[in-house]
Amino acid sequence: MTRKRVGILISGRGSNMSTLIEAARSPDYPAEIVGVLSNRAAAPGLATAAAEGIATASLAQSKFPTRDMFEDVMTQTLESWDVDIVCLAGFMRILGDDFVHHWAGRMINIHPSLLPLYKGLHTHERALADGARVHGCTVHFVTPGLDEGAAILQAEVPVLPGDTADSLAARVLIEEHRIYPEALRLLASGKIAAP
Ligand code: GAR
Repeated sequence: MTRKRVGILISGRGSNMSTLIEAARSPDYPAEIVGVLSNRAAAPGLATAAAEGIATASLAQSKFPTRDMFEDVMTQTLESWDVDIVCLAGFMRILGDDFVHHWAGRMINIHPSLLPLYKGLHTHERALADGARVHGCTVHFVTPGLDEGAAILQAEVPVLPGDTADSLAARVLIEEHRIYPEALRLLASGKIAAP
């Protein structure tokens, strides 16, 4: 088995990144994590990845004259790691069309809602404000429209009486950590492809 080479983009904590690293420890997992790139040098996930012996890089968009130039350097960095698949794991920047087209069919994202519900930010607060009884998360292919690409896996959680955004986020995060490694397994093993 040739394992697919995966680069992960993060902006912060990196708990989803850690679950992908953990899954890839298994020799029969069809992907290996070869690099982690953050748009924030202070992202705690960078230190976690470095401690695992994984290559890391941080690139601040503010240091580049345009978003396209920033994203070109992101692509160069990922290609210097010979990446086959890009996983967005709490990467909190909207990506431009050129970058998205470059990685089309090879880039997936985890989003904390049952897409197409609650695209964008503050998903847990919005689900609570709506009185939703069910909430969850989605792994999907990345396309130019924000959080619009085809879903690969979803998981539901109940919204419970007394839930706060934090308690709901914690319940959803458990499911994120379960479905993200599974979705990457499906893509890396060729069992699914972008429509
Ligand atoms: C996760 O809940 C992820 O779904 C969300 O950010 C969190 C990152 O946590 N992503 C988005 O909201 C993307 N729009 P992590 O850094 O611990 O994985």
